[in-house]
Amino acid sequence: MAPSADSGAAAKAAARSVQLSVNVDHVATLRQARRADYPDPVDAARIAESAGASGITVHLREDRRHIQDHDLAALAEAVRGKLNLEIAGTVAMLEIAERHRPGQVTLVPERPDEITTEGGLDLVRHSRRVQRAANTLAESGIAVSIFLDPEEAQVDCAVQMENIAGIEINTDHYTRAERPEGELEEIRRAAARAAEAGISVYAGHGLTTTNVGAVAAVPQIEELNIGHSIVSRAVLVGFEAAVKEMLEAIRRAS
Ligand code: PXP
Repeated sequence: MAPSADSGAAAKAAARSVQLSVNVDHVATLRQARRADYPDPVDAARIAESAGASGITVHLREDRRHIQDHDLAALAEAVRGKLNLEIAGTVAMLEIAERHRPGQVTLVPERPDEITTEGGLDLVRHSRRVQRAANTLAESGIAVSIFLDPEEAQVDCAVQMENIAGIEINTDHYTRAERPEGELEEIRRAAARAAEAGISVYAGHGLTTTNVGAVAAVPQIEELNIGHSIVSRAVLVGFEAAVKEMLEAIRRAS
């Protein structure tokens, strides 16, 4: 008997599971606050993966305010799923990425005095430089993703480039908006445009168990990169519980 349209849609929905990459930067922030040797982001990564995360994200910042080079080396050994390394596309950072060969590099803009990443890369202005970085990484077999604001011009630029496996849509504006529907619509449009061009779609920044649902429900989004809210919650309830709470919030929506 041919499957009905309803059962097809149900099977598709069941097959779709949005993955969670846990960003463990702020485990290192806590450690660096005392220049101690604990808590270890590698321990957090192990717990996150065994709690159901599909991978681990770290941002090796030029000022090394949280993740250190030795953390990256240890995580490259310990992480069983995808290790996603966020870096600015400088020569020094590209060399580090080539040395440790994470599964994925996400290219992000970085300003020394920012508290956290403030926005997506401006590909419209910097596409040639970003293309060179992407080519270098791809030659080492590293998948390249680019952190982008959900703007049509930026996404159009990304889909025309070579060696770009995915984009990560910046959800920061959505998470701060009083009336987020407009921001969500931009995220939906950007996700559809990128997926239509055949590249993977990720999203993240500022996501919490309260606001993650609407983003997880965007059909083209494959993975969410979430850090600060999980680590903050982990301080109170433990890392495993915090990761599971986030996975449950994602599962409810997707
Ligand atoms: N994606 C990118 C590119 C980031 O720079 C960050 C912050 O390090 C995140 C996602 C995660 O953001 P948050 O810590 O707010 O969950």
